[in-house]
Amino acid sequence: MSLEFRPPRDRAEALAFLDFAGPALLAPRSGAEAFLDREGLEPMRLLLENGRIVAGLSMRSMAQYFGGRAVPSLAFRMVAVEPGSRGRGVASALLKAALEEGKAVHPIAMLYPATVGFYRNLGFEEAGHYMRVEVPTRELPDGRSARAAVRELPVREVPLDDPALRVIYEADAARSGGAFVRDAWLWNRLLRPIVPGPDRIAYLLGPESAPEGYLITAFEHQPGGRHGTLLVKDRAFLTARAVQRAQIFLCHHASTLSRVRLEGGAPDALLSGLANHAFEIPYTERWMVRLLDPGRALALRGYSAAVRAEVHLTIVDPGFEPDATRLILSVEGGQARTAPGGRGDVVVDARGLAALYTGFASPSDIRLQGYTDDAEALAGVFAGPTPALRDFV
Ligand SMILES: CC(C)(COP(=O)(O)OP(=O)(O)OC[C@H]1O[C@@H](n2cnc3c(N)ncnc32)[C@H](O)[C@@H]1OP(=O)(O)O)[C@@H](O)C(=O)NCCC(=O)NCCS
Repeated sequence: MSLEFRPPRDRAEALAFLDFAGPALLAPRSGAEAFLDREGLEPMRLLLENGRIVAGLSMRSMAQYFGGRAVPSLAFRMVAVEPGSRGRGVASALLKAALEEGKAVHPIAMLYPATVGFYRNLGFEEAGHYMRVEVPTRELPDGRSARAAVRELPVREVPLDDPALRVIYEADAARSGGAFVRDAWLWNRLLRPIVPGPDRIAYLLGPESAPEGYLITAFEHQPGGRHGTLLVKDRAFLTARAVQRAQIFLCHHASTLSRVRLEGGAPDALLSGLANHAFEIPYTERWMVRLLDPGRALALRGYSAAVRAEVHLTIVDPGFEPDATRLILSVEGGQARTAPGGRGDVVVDARGLAALYTGFASPSDIRLQGYTDDAEALAGVFAGPTPALRDFV
């Protein structure tokens, strides 16, 4: 077959892709125009077979925080093959071409997989959490036993475009594992969904001159029902008292909103310190990461200042060029340097290294997955917060 991989030439080509990508990804065709307005043509790529569009995807340039530093990350979305062309290698060809293009700029790629095995064959591995967590509102502290410094911390509604929200988000995200640097596109998706739902309301916590956190809420309820669910669409905190004040603030919605739902990882500050393990996880996913340029990926992330290591790696990436890379990783003072070559003592599959890199897996995890015989030399190197995303992209 004669295949061509390229961006859409115009809106009509992008819409022709969305004609089959929409239904394939469970989105209505009627939303295609609005979707394109939001996404733009730039991240989109098509695969044409003998001049006909048979597949496509979006590859959006993003960045994710690891060890306090933002690493350029290529986010793959909307991978879809026209139904009549499936089952004969079209998706593999599409992804391989996209990975080849992407690696010039992005040392890593990420995606939320619909089919894990397919992406594992392309060098991705599960590397972080995303989950929806629910808790009965009354399980959160009501503030009666809180210190005055917590109880009296001001909470006030602010416009959704208040710049303080962005500042607090980035400060909080930089300390977490894997969170996106939020660009205008991500904020827009969060605050103005294409299918309008209940209003988002933003609250800043803390003194006006120096806010310490925020909540962005919405709600969901069955028409005619007496109780609904309070949706924490987003939140970020800089201090422990802002977290505690946020818990109390949410608890004070209990009379009509009997449950609280948030998105992210399970060990979440908002669910810390509760009297009971009352939360449930109705939905969970794992996002995957691929190392596109291991040397740059390792040099660009941050590390714990307590870690000092020199490891001679052989990174194997079967079926891809180069299929083995030797490099020396030296970590000191919170930073790493990488140099090509070295003894190659620790042999590790690129997929196992991706899972280590984000802090999702330990050396012993990836040994049991068959990705290395011995990666103990890497124990502790990638120690940090459990990687979790609040944004489902
Ligand atoms: C998933 C999808 C992209 C695969 O496209 P495709 O062109 O049929 O895939 P390929 O023929 O290139 O298959 C490549 C490999 O993946 C495997 N594979 C394909 N679909 C799979 C699935 N749903 N589950 C597990 N493995 C799958 C194939 O068996 C093949 O393995 P092999 O190389 O060992 O034979 C296509 O079915 C599709 O568009 N589905 C609907 C949208 C979707 O799910 N997109 C993914 C969003 S993340």
